[in-house]
Amino acid sequence: MISATETKLPKIKTALPGPKAKEVIAYDAKYMSPSLTREYPLAAERASGAIVEDADGNTFLDFAAGIAVCSTGHCHPKVVAAIQRQAAEMIHIAGTEFYHRHMPEFAEKLVSTMPKSEKWKVFFGNSGTEAVEGAIKLARYHTKRDKLIAFYGCFHGRTLGSLSLTASKNTQRKHFGALLGGVEHIPYPYAYRCALGHTKETCGGEIIELLEQQIFKRLFAPEEVAAIVVEPMQGEGGFIPAPLFFLQELQRICNKHGIMLILDEVQAGMGRTGKWWAYDHAGITPDIVLTAKGIASGMPVAAFIAKESVMDWKAGSHGTTYGGNPVCLAAATTTFDLIEGGLMANAEKMGNYIFSKISDWPNRFKIVGDVRGKGLMIGVEIVRDQRTKERSADLRDAVVDNAFHRGLLTLSSGENSIRVSPPLIIDEEQADFAIQIMEESIREAEKKI
Ligand SMILES: Cc1ncc(COP(=O)(O)O)c(C=O)c1O
Repeated sequence: MISATETKLPKIKTALPGPKAKEVIAYDAKYMSPSLTREYPLAAERASGAIVEDADGNTFLDFAAGIAVCSTGHCHPKVVAAIQRQAAEMIHIAGTEFYHRHMPEFAEKLVSTMPKSEKWKVFFGNSGTEAVEGAIKLARYHTKRDKLIAFYGCFHGRTLGSLSLTASKNTQRKHFGALLGGVEHIPYPYAYRCALGHTKETCGGEIIELLEQQIFKRLFAPEEVAAIVVEPMQGEGGFIPAPLFFLQELQRICNKHGIMLILDEVQAGMGRTGKWWAYDHAGITPDIVLTAKGIASGMPVAAFIAKESVMDWKAGSHGTTYGGNPVCLAAATTTFDLIEGGLMANAEKMGNYIFSKISDWPNRFKIVGDVRGKGLMIGVEIVRDQRTKERSADLRDAVVDNAFHRGLLTLSSGENSIRVSPPLIIDEEQADFAIQIMEESIREAEKKI
């Protein structure tokens, strides 16, 4: 077993993939759905802290965290102990049918992170997409309206309701037929590619105008719109933060027309940006907030948190068999305490540290177009030509692959960006090591042009 205290940095011992990893990959190809996307041939065997060990004993520094899930690192001893303790007490009872204290206990913690001007209620599920589905239903139920506004580039999940909002990659929708009707997509503010040349602080005013002057006047009357659903920081779309004024404007519009503002914090939330929620940076009060991923250190938990006045549906309107599972909530409660007890502050500190070292990459590397994000949610956009901003998925993939071969796990994001989303536990030594590997990987990829 590896332990976080034994090793903080990775070590590659074999060619990658090694012989045992090759066996796992061949085995997987025989039985597993070909719809899964694997970026590089990592066959993980065990993990601890920010280190993942593969089937051949190679170790990797994990700056992907299982898609921003393992916020407390892998197998944090307190999370493991909480899971073990609860598994011996009661594994399942079905919170839809019976009471158990774990649900209100964790719900109270989530509510403590929400704006104090409101009362809040919580519904637990098992995955991000389930939180999105539930929130769509709640918004429709509460408003008695059915239209939804979502954004190009945003990702909200893969089940048919959430997929109707997702507008990230056409492969995610192709051949799946008709989705929810009444969904309109509008552009997301993307400062690096802003056609009007606005900055990271000011980009997006024209989108607000499009919404108010075109969509509301020509397509849907605002009083028909149930919700505007948005990621305050796009995850799968390229780690793109929305300007704060843009989120404030969305809140103004929603308040004006009685539209639910649903913020999808599935990837950005739970302390990753240095605050509980990415929307906290904008100081707004949404109607419904969605969370999953980083909430329970890898155990399947999702939640949507809604204003008490909004969560007014009747018994039987919505339910779940597994949501609020006691073992998963034990992991979530411990994860919450660890995030509150220092990891959120560490995310802010380490995010600032990494930015101080890499924000000049566009000046130092000709294939880096943009470095952006907040806390430990950092996007690096790779281009073939900085002047034309020509996107390069090939060069981006080369950087991600080069990093893997040097012992660093990252993930791609959007068409041509890299997501840097380590566990919130990393320290300066690990950050320095990752930066060094990424710089070498970028340099190597640059030789291709
Ligand atoms: C912002 C956002 N919403 C929803 C989802 C869907 O979550 P899940 O894969 O758990 O269904 C994701 C997953 O990447 C996400 O990033």
